[in-house]
Amino acid sequence: MSSANTKPKAKSSDPQKSFHAPKGMHDALPADQHYWERIETAAREIARSYHFARIDTPLLEDADLFKKTTGEESDVVAKEMYTMRTKGGDVLALRPEFTPGVARAYMEHNLSRLGQPQRLYSVGPVFRHDRPQLGRTRQFTQVNFEVMGGVNDAMYDAQIILIFATLLEELKIKNTALKVNSVGCKVCRPIYKKQLQNYYKNHEKELCADCARRLKTNPLRLLDCKNPQCQKFKEKAPNFLDKLCVTCSKSFKEILEYLDELQISYALDNQLVRGLDYYSRTVFELSAEGAGSEVGALLGGGRYDYLIEFLGGRLTPAVGGAAGIERLIAVMKAREIAPSVKAVRRVFVVHAGDSAKKKAIRLMKDLVGAGIPISESLAKDSLRAQLKSADKEGAHVALILGQKEIYESSVIIRDMRTGLQESVTLANVVEEIKKRWNHK
Ligand code: HAM
Repeated sequence: MSSANTKPKAKSSDPQKSFHAPKGMHDALPADQHYWERIETAAREIARSYHFARIDTPLLEDADLFKKTTGEESDVVAKEMYTMRTKGGDVLALRPEFTPGVARAYMEHNLSRLGQPQRLYSVGPVFRHDRPQLGRTRQFTQVNFEVMGGVNDAMYDAQIILIFATLLEELKIKNTALKVNSVGCKVCRPIYKKQLQNYYKNHEKELCADCARRLKTNPLRLLDCKNPQCQKFKEKAPNFLDKLCVTCSKSFKEILEYLDELQISYALDNQLVRGLDYYSRTVFELSAEGAGSEVGALLGGGRYDYLIEFLGGRLTPAVGGAAGIERLIAVMKAREIAPSVKAVRRVFVVHAGDSAKKKAIRLMKDLVGAGIPISESLAKDSLRAQLKSADKEGAHVALILGQKEIYESSVIIRDMRTGLQESVTLANVVEEIKKRWNHK
């Protein structure tokens, strides 16, 4: 990997070496899985409701794919991409985002023939070798929605924003701020860029090194420089919204009307340009306000009508966005929003003796086959220790198999809360459990 950590490393044979997750990458532990499940389920249900089909693309893509689309000048490609040369000599990159890979797949499989537009969604890890800090990691997980192909209709820009607003609503994340802007098209952007360059040229010597370079290569990015020495010039910079061509201006107005209709509140931010080069017209970003706001933007996106053309395809209208799951979780935790995940009811299977243990594993298979989730601590020999585990897990029902039960083809059902026990035949146990569950 070209951007791998350069610190000297202990040899793998070093017996003292202790292993940690790579810097900027984290384990999603069992204790947090209810957040993940809630977010992924909400995304999947919204995708289904709005008729988005799931697409999964490889973690690795040709590095040039990102250079041509996300942009060689973008931080994501210039500074943050994990690239590698394979044994076969290909230069691949770990995807730093979904959009270029989804566009590549759209072209490669000629997805437009399946109907237009294509509505595609993805969930999965992406990688950026950035400096880790609060809300910023090197591996993170995006929920990504794209509308590709068909006609260029402002309705889709609004619908993408609506989809993310719905996701936040589902997750009970309120108190957020949506910023929208337009970065124009092939017609108006070059004119605006020239005006911006002329304005900034007067301050060239006072700009940070990155901005001095961007002044020539990508002047729009001057507007989102976070460096304090560059901030002060932003205020008087020409406003793109005043310079949009008639078509871009009309389209932007329509999007705002749709957002009004949907009662989605927004603020215009003429300095929002986003760090990825492929955007045209609409760009948007949404952040938490108050608790959790320190993690940075929760989601962002925009229109990218030229991306497929950059890859040698036809001019293809497209719009999309992505949210970072880790940041959503951070906000939920900061606000103590407990994800409502349906608890799974399960029966705890207990054995008393070796031959009962064999029957117990068979009983578990039959229960699972009948749609009844199980739990156990069969490796423990003592009945008391197993029941203690059942208690610890908060099990409501335990099924106990002993010598007598094997002989009689029966099982004891124990209500863990009352301690009441009853014997039922093995043939009836599934029915009996379902009956008890339906009564509660
Ligand atoms: P992005 O703004 O670069 O857009 O990333 C989208 C979201 O990913 C961010 O709002 C944030 O929640 C999360 N994110 C970004 N970087 C990090 C990081 N280092 N650590 C943790 N979370 C992070 C895109 O990636 C575009 N592809 C979105 C898009 C789709 N535009 C059109 N279609």
